[in-house]
Amino acid sequence: MSAAQPLRAFLRAMTLLVTEETDARRQQAAGAELLRTLVATSGWLSPGFRSFGPGFRQQILYGDPLERFSLIGFVWGTEESVTPVHDHGVWGAVGVLEGEEVSVEMVPDAAGGPMREGRRDRLGAGEVMLLGLDAYDIHKVENARPGVAGVAIHLYGGNIGAIDRQMFDPATSAASLVKTGYDNPTLPNPWV
Ligand SMILES: [Fe+2]
Repeated sequence: MSAAQPLRAFLRAMTLLVTEETDARRQQAAGAELLRTLVATSGWLSPGFRSFGPGFRQQILYGDPLERFSLIGFVWGTEESVTPVHDHGVWGAVGVLEGEEVSVEMVPDAAGGPMREGRRDRLGAGEVMLLGLDAYDIHKVENARPGVAGVAIHLYGGNIGAIDRQMFDPATSAASLVKTGYDNPTLPNPWV
């Protein structure tokens, strides 16, 4: 069997899902189950997409041509161990492929004071959590084992690198709009 078979099966099922189901909550719930199957094994992601430089990398692994979903490989570097505070703008699901990370909900202060920490979700390999819709959307993410390899697979209900998202200053709760883009010039080949 091709090493890429789990990725191919995921992309086929996810494309059918967003074609047949237009309700965002049902897309998120069913997409998260597909993601859970995808992150149950890790051999489908080739070594070139697990490289660990000094900073974290947001790599697009696949983008739906109609931008109904995107699949992201988020690789933790050996130095930076926490992301800026951000939202997503579309529904999301995050599964850990290798390593361990902590998502910390961040709540803005309406009066311009510091943001407050809310829920903490610790995810190990094979575990999946939801973002947005009925789950919290604004968070920061920490590598629970700084300096150790970590890869998370993110599924979003849109082209996450191309849409307007918010970054927050945790000291003032001030938000600014950004497009995050992607750090990789090439995509994995699901057909080999
Ligand atoms: Fe996030």
